[in-house]
This record gives sequence, C-alpha cells and structure tokens, in this order.
Amino acid sequence: MSSTRNFYNFLALVFDFSIRYIVQYRAPDFLRHYLLSLATSESNILDIGTGTGHAIEAIYHQRQFASIHGVDISAEMLRRCKRKFPDIHLHEGDVFSLPDDFSRWFHLIICMGAVEHIPDLPRFFVRCGDLLHDDGHLVFTYEPVIVYKKNQQDPHGHLKFFSNVPCYRHDPAEIAKHLNSAGLLVVDDREFVAYWGMVFHMVMAMKIKQPNKVLERDAAQSAAPLS
Ligand SMILES: C[S@@+](CC[C@H](N)C(=O)[O-])C[C@H]1O[C@@H](n2cnc3c(N)ncnc32)[C@H](O)[C@@H]1O
Repeated sequence: MSSTRNFYNFLALVFDFSIRYIVQYRAPDFLRHYLLSLATSESNILDIGTGTGHAIEAIYHQRQFASIHGVDISAEMLRRCKRKFPDIHLHEGDVFSLPDDFSRWFHLIICMGAVEHIPDLPRFFVRCGDLLHDDGHLVFTYEPVIVYKKNQQDPHGHLKFFSNVPCYRHDPAEIAKHLNSAGLLVVDDREFVAYWGMVFHMVMAMKIKQPNKVLERDAAQSAAPLS
C-alpha cells in the first residue's frame, strides 16, 4: 500500500489539472446521473478513494446529501478535497480504518477509480456490505481483464507508466460472485472508456435483504436440468 500512497501523494499535486487537460478522465461524467438518481437530501454517503472529490462533486453542488464522508490513503489528495468541498468529513486511511459506529450507516457508497488498488476484493465487499444501510447501494468502477488488450490483459499488473503501483483487474463474473458472497446483488454493470482507451466497468449493486433466499434460488437454478 505504501507505493500506492506515495504515488498518489505525488500525483495529488497535479491531479485535477491532469485529469481535466491531459487524460480527459470521463468516469465522473459517466457516473453522474447514476449517483444523482440514488442520492437524496437524506442520504449518508461514503466515497472510498475519494481523491480530490470528483465522484461527489455533482451531489455536493446539488446538496443531495445529509452527510458525505470521504476516505483515502493519501493525505495530499484529502487536503485538496477539503479545500474544494469544506462540508465533507474526511478520513485518512482505508475503508477498514473507519470506526465501527458507521455500521449500516451509509445509503450510498461510491468507489470510483480505486477498486483496482484493493488487493483483497472479497474482504472489501464484505466491509462495504457492513457499512451499507439495508436499503443501500454501492456504485463503483473497476478495470476488467481484457484478453486481447495488451495493457489490460493481466489480472495482476501495474498502473500504466508507474511500474511499482499494483493494479488488480477482474472479470465481471468474478465481481458478481464476490458481491453475492458479501450479500450484494449487481443491478447494473456497464462498460465505458474512462481515459486514453482504457476500458472500465461501472457497477451498481444493492444490499440483498434476504441473502440466503437469493443463494438458494441461484443453487436451484444452476441445478435445474437443461430443457
Ligand atoms: C485514480 S484516484 C481516483 C480518485 C477519485 N475517486 C476520482 O475518481 O477522481 C485513486 C484514489 O484512490 C486512493 N486509494 C488507493 N488505494 C486506496 C485504498 N486502499 N483505500 C483508500 N483509498 C485508496 C488513492 O490515494 C487515490 O486518491
């Protein structure tokens, strides 16, 4: 984690300028209407890997929140985020360092551009499930494995140009399986180009109210004979 933290502390100095003028990062625009359709003035929102706050920008300006919390391992990113969005509560660290008081507190959890840095995704999704309110949604992006694309074909590679920053890629089926095991259900999964031809997925998942029922149904369906 320290190579990732050092990298983002350094990148923070030029992050806003570079994503706007150099890489033309499209994830915030792509996610905006999903997030605005889920957030209300009653929502407690958590943004994991919040960076300088691009994911929450629209929600913040529309005042569609009761509270917004951001968590990030980079102090430099958080410093810049606080300057832009003074009403956000910021926590330096990863999602596991948040106090347990937040259990089932968040109506919406966002994680944009950070899942590729999480080595243990099953544990991460379980943690998100614990933090989510019973009617809560998790919206996140991830980098898929694309076998025919040289710079996205390794499940465990490195960030392009930054050879010491690990990048974990996944298959959609693997993501759905890990979410299911954490009591979360995929309700939408779309592919989009995030920057410089890099393909990302955007997933919206919701908490399963009766996880055992869904698992029983899945087991029954997979055991059913083919007609
Ligand atoms: C590509 S930036 C994305 C920032 C912002 N979400 C956006 O889309 O503009 C990735 C962010 O995730 C943070 N990050 C990386 N690993 C993390 C972890 N394990 N826990 C929390 N934040 C992490 C980095 O410090 C960085 O700010």
